[in-house]
Amino acid sequence: MQISLAGKRVFITAGAAGMGRSMALSMHELGATVFTCDVDEAGLQTLPEGVSTYVCDVSNSASLDAIFTEILPQGLDILVNNAGISGPTKLVEDIEDDEWRKTMAVCVDAQFFCVRRVVPVFKKQGHGVIINMISAAGIMGYPTRTPYASAKWAVTGFTKTLAMELGPDNIRVNGIVPGNVNGDRIERVIHAHAETDGLDPEEVRRMYAIGTSMQCYVDPQEIADMVCFLCSDLAKNVSGQIIAVDGNTETLYPRS
Ligand SMILES: NC(=O)c1ccc[n+]([C@@H]2O[C@H](COP(=O)([O-])OP(=O)(O)OC[C@H]3O[C@@H](n4cnc5c(N)ncnc54)[C@H](O)[C@@H]3O)[C@@H](O)[C@H]2O)c1
Repeated sequence: MQISLAGKRVFITAGAAGMGRSMALSMHELGATVFTCDVDEAGLQTLPEGVSTYVCDVSNSASLDAIFTEILPQGLDILVNNAGISGPTKLVEDIEDDEWRKTMAVCVDAQFFCVRRVVPVFKKQGHGVIINMISAAGIMGYPTRTPYASAKWAVTGFTKTLAMELGPDNIRVNGIVPGNVNGDRIERVIHAHAETDGLDPEEVRRMYAIGTSMQCYVDPQEIADMVCFLCSDLAKNVSGQIIAVDGNTETLYPRS
């Protein structure tokens, strides 16, 4: 099996670091023309020449609109809605309005802002692929993370509904469920969880691993590999799926 993205044009949100960066690099290597945006200008500047970058907060629809106004006339085949923030780690009664709204804005609103702009182009050309980043928090409960879990469940519903609405127009829509992904973010999540529950971070790290059947953490590249497959023509009949690359998460909140 040989995956090629030659000739495909892709827009990935939040490509400066983490999984978005791995996706941008892999897709670029597989021949795609890659456009990406992020709030981290310095991180964007470290992407290779040939990857087009834009500084943008995806929760700002006007900012995203300006990017689409520039890139859509060049054509687009694939949208990867990758951006998402962890939100607060708190008991529900301690969460502030702004914390709730910001989590929803980055994790959910931004996906909608992108989808509504690309769909008319995809419909007109008769094809398109959309990948939405979810989380195991979008298919199961996650105590102390209500804004994030609520946002990701919204993305699961968005993905399933888009697949049905857009399938007749030859537009495929799939969701990715990454597990515990090695990187800075999981370290922040582990430390926040440890602080909220009064635990040692090493204990939380161990609990997260044993919450999966494979007792594992995954690398960003494993997620990028799955996304590349789903975006390729090899996956031309894969749509409406919520695909986990996570060693099979059994629980996000093993009780210590
Ligand atoms: N890391 C994990 O363990 C994990 C697990 C499950 C799901 N996810 C989801 O996968 C996706 C990618 O996660 P990640 O861990 O690679 O992300 P990350 O936290 O490493 O951040 C990646 C990039 O997002 C950018 N970013 C943050 N807020 C932004 C905004 N408002 N506008 C534009 N860019 C912004 C950051 O600057 C950074 O470069 C997210 O949707 C996340 O919710 C992550």
